[in-house]
Amino acid sequence: VTTGEGAVVQAQCVQVVRYPETNVRDDDFEIVTHPLGPLADGQVLVRNTWTSVDPALRIRLRPNAPAGYFAAFPLGQPMDAIMTIGEVMESRADGFNVGDTVWHGAGWRSHAIIDAGQVAMNGLATLRVLDASRVPAQSYLGPLGTMGLTAYAGLRLLGALERPGTLWVSGAAGAVGSLVCQMGVQLGLRVVASAGSDDKVAWLRDEVGVAAAFNRREANLVQSLREAAPEGLDFYFDGVGADHLEAALECMNQGGAIALCGAIAEYEQDQPGLRNLFLATSKNLTLRGFRASSHADWIEPMQDLLGGWLAEGLISYPESIFEGLSRAPQALADMMAGRTVGKTLVQI
Ligand SMILES: NC(=O)c1ccc[n+]([C@@H]2O[C@H](COP(=O)([O-])OP(=O)(O)OC[C@H]3O[C@@H](n4cnc5c(N)ncnc54)[C@H](OP(=O)(O)O)[C@@H]3O)[C@@H](O)[C@H]2O)c1
Repeated sequence: VTTGEGAVVQAQCVQVVRYPETNVRDDDFEIVTHPLGPLADGQVLVRNTWTSVDPALRIRLRPNAPAGYFAAFPLGQPMDAIMTIGEVMESRADGFNVGDTVWHGAGWRSHAIIDAGQVAMNGLATLRVLDASRVPAQSYLGPLGTMGLTAYAGLRLLGALERPGTLWVSGAAGAVGSLVCQMGVQLGLRVVASAGSDDKVAWLRDEVGVAAAFNRREANLVQSLREAAPEGLDFYFDGVGADHLEAALECMNQGGAIALCGAIAEYEQDQPGLRNLFLATSKNLTLRGFRASSHADWIEPMQDLLGGWLAEGLISYPESIFEGLSRAPQALADMMAGRTVGKTLVQI
């Protein structure tokens, strides 16, 4: 890599070779070198340091992404629209200086040239300078970034920021779920958590302090929920869909609300339709789908709330870190399979 006025940088980029039929594999991807630069006016050259690994990437590994969603990744081109942290190496844009820590959406690559001010990922990934003086830079991919925003937006749309009740969180030891659980505990909700291993369940119960937790792989979901929340559920934060959403519908109280955050059970395999959706009618439920990127204007209130709890040591955020861009596909496969805890990240 050479830098400096007018330099050309060789960027390493991950590209999709073929769309996986079921589980993601290493050889579905390749790493290719692309020359970048020189910079034009209004542009910034960034050396990426951390890049995000999200279930959303799996949704885009197909010829067409679901309607209304971020575009599918084209084959044989650098993957784009993925949240990333980096350091400015060269700038020809006002407000950005060499050495600044920034976030942007050109992830899964070593370097990127970004047009300052260009709206990216509905505003979520528009180039922005971050204050990394008091927190690790990568926390802007976790609690102070999209993960925090997703947790905050879901709870806010549920009405759970101001109303007490019992909240079930699925995928509770993951990036979003672990924040939802901790926010629920801080807000005084009775939190019931589920995850895919006994170690994760023990962490949720003993460290996070949820009221009850169970292993989703080991028992009947409805039975586990009835034992964990005999009073019924007022809120469900759904990252799984399928069998988990059906179980929630069984156990919801009248007037309850469900945040449809994601449906990871569907991303790698087809699922049958819900068999008990009429319970949403009979119980007067609200089912609210949402995307964090539709609420980019909530980044600041989210950072105020979560940043305050973080500074007081009330929120922890485990990370599963994979070293090097070449390990990004493995990181995605491990996260989808439940082998990671907290936020899954690649350090470049
Ligand atoms: N709406 C939005 O804007 C938005 C933003 C970010 C994320 N999301 C969604 O939120 C969910 C969680 O995302 P994340 O980034 O926090 O990922 P994550 O929870 O860190 O990782 C995904 C976890 O899901 C669990 N899982 C995988 N397959 C499952 C299945 N068939 N049934 C039940 N659990 C399964 C696994 O954990 P266990 O094995 O421990 O259960 C896995 O580790 C995903 O659905 C994602 O698409 C939505």
